Amino acid sequence: MNPNLSIYDNLGGAETLRRLVEAFYPRVVENPLIGPLFPEDIDPVMEKQYMFLTQFFGGHLFIPIRTVIR
Ligand code: HEM
Repeated sequence: MNPNLSIYDNLGGAETLRRLVEAFYPRVVENPLIGPLFPEDIDPVMEKQYMFLTQFFGGHLFIPIRTVIR
């Protein structure tokens, strides 16, 4: 771990988060308890999760900051 880098960069950036999301959601969909909670088309959920994790771990923002801070 490099303390001078964001958690995002320490994790391996976009590539790692894509791999993580793509490994996780097929298991969610297959799960008998929580799978039925999700829509049939899981792709938009995966995309939102990828964007959420990118922002949460200190990668880049997907929307202009002015739309959230007035
Ligand atoms: C067992 C735990 C969880 C369950 C059952 C669950 C369930 C769901 C469901 C049903 C949706 C909506 C899918 C749709 O209809 O489009 C969703 C969306 C989402 N969840 Fe979770 N979730 C869980 C945990 C988490 C956690 C821990 C995070 C992040 C820390 C998270 C982040 C998100 C995000 C970013 C979305 C997309 C939001 C959006 O549609 O605007 N979820 N989740």
